[in-house]
Amino acid sequence: MKCDLLSLADLDPEQVHDLMALAIELKAELAAGGNGPVLASKSLAMVFQKPSLRTRVSFEMGMQQLGGHALYIAPAEIDLGHRESVADVARVLARYVDGIMARVYAHDDVVQLARWASVPVINGLSDLVHPCQGLTDLLTIQEKLGRLRGVHLTYVGDGNNVLHSLLYAAALTGMKLTYATPAGYDPLPEVVSKASDLATATGATICAERDAKRAVRGTDVIYTDTWTSMGQEAEAAERRHVFPAYQVNDDLLSAAGSQAVVMHCLPAHRGEEITDAVADGERSWLFDQAENRLHAQKAVLVKLLRG
Ligand code: CP
Ligand code: NVA
Repeated sequence: MKCDLLSLADLDPEQVHDLMALAIELKAELAAGGNGPVLASKSLAMVFQKPSLRTRVSFEMGMQQLGGHALYIAPAEIDLGHRESVADVARVLARYVDGIMARVYAHDDVVQLARWASVPVINGLSDLVHPCQGLTDLLTIQEKLGRLRGVHLTYVGDGNNVLHSLLYAAALTGMKLTYATPAGYDPLPEVVSKASDLATATGATICAERDAKRAVRGTDVIYTDTWTSMGQEAEAAERRHVFPAYQVNDDLLSAAGSQAVVMHCLPAHRGEEITDAVADGERSWLFDQAENRLHAQKAVLVKLLRG
């Protein structure tokens, strides 16, 4: 039976652990001279409704490094759900390729792609979640700190798709996640509730805060993301008024303590959610984190496409 990756909430702790282990193995293998062609003759269609740098390039290079092929399909080309229904696109693509990665607005579009495609579907970001980012973030923390269980991560900013996936990621691995979001910009209650359910099996804790400085005190990792996600551009001016108290800057880092490091899924809006000094500072993991998109997703590709 085919397997999809639509949300980390669909995985169990063992599956997450196995993906991390495989990502670490593939990364080491690449560094030692290259990966074997385990996806030779396999192809991945990459359907985009939104722009991308990391997702597009890391999936394409990942497929190439594993001996397979990736096909980029720009937003205007398929015009998912407008030129042709999602169900028809899924059934047609599945006749040509071995897997589909899709970046969509409505999460239900990726759910429908998975329902109608006879090949695995990977969510490359929807308005609801960003599972490939969440796996990457786990890989980065595991690599840098040598563990996940008990690590305290504090997310500061908008309660968006990236926070939703971090909630599931933390819950599945026994982390301590605190989020500080302004009123009206909290993560969806159903996501928090689902993450809390998952957390009971691992001992993870989830804590909500309003005050960013209080939230980061003593934390291991400060994480932030854009104040205005793709699709919310009309709210950008209003959001710029709401979020300044949630900027990750030197002042916030001082409130956290000298152990704290900084993560951001990128793209960064420098001067908004993060300052140049922090993004380019000694405690920034931003570019190692971006690199890990490649390694984490290669593990997903091998698990889902190798057959
Ligand atoms: N973090 C991330 O998904 O980046 P892109 O939007 O550039 O793919
Ligand atoms: N929350 C952001 C993440 C970008 C990778 C967005 O959805 O635009």
